Amino acid sequence: MCLRLAVAARPEQPAAASETAIAMATSPLDAGLLAAAQAVEHYEISRYGTLRTWANELGLSDAVELLDQTLAEEKKTDAALTEIAESVVNLEAEAA
Ligand SMILES: [Fe+2]
Repeated sequence: MCLRLAVAARPEQPAAASETAIAMATSPLDAGLLAAAQAVEHYEISRYGTLRTWANELGLSDAVELLDQTLAEEKKTDAALTEIAESVVNLEAEAA
């Protein structure tokens, strides 16, 4: 989507034509980038989950609290990416 916004900002092209061309050119790339971003989130969720478990077993309650917060943020980001993928990006990529 960053590429789409960057190209859309070019004033020398008519908006409707450039938006169509941009959607066709970037949709599969957007889907791939989004999938890669989700892979990162999944990795982070697994790591923070493990660290939280270890902190809990070691009685590090301050660390457990921080890791719980971070884990919740990662899960929230993953859910947001899923929503974007399923509601827009994957459909646009399929149609391109
Ligand atoms: Fe993350």
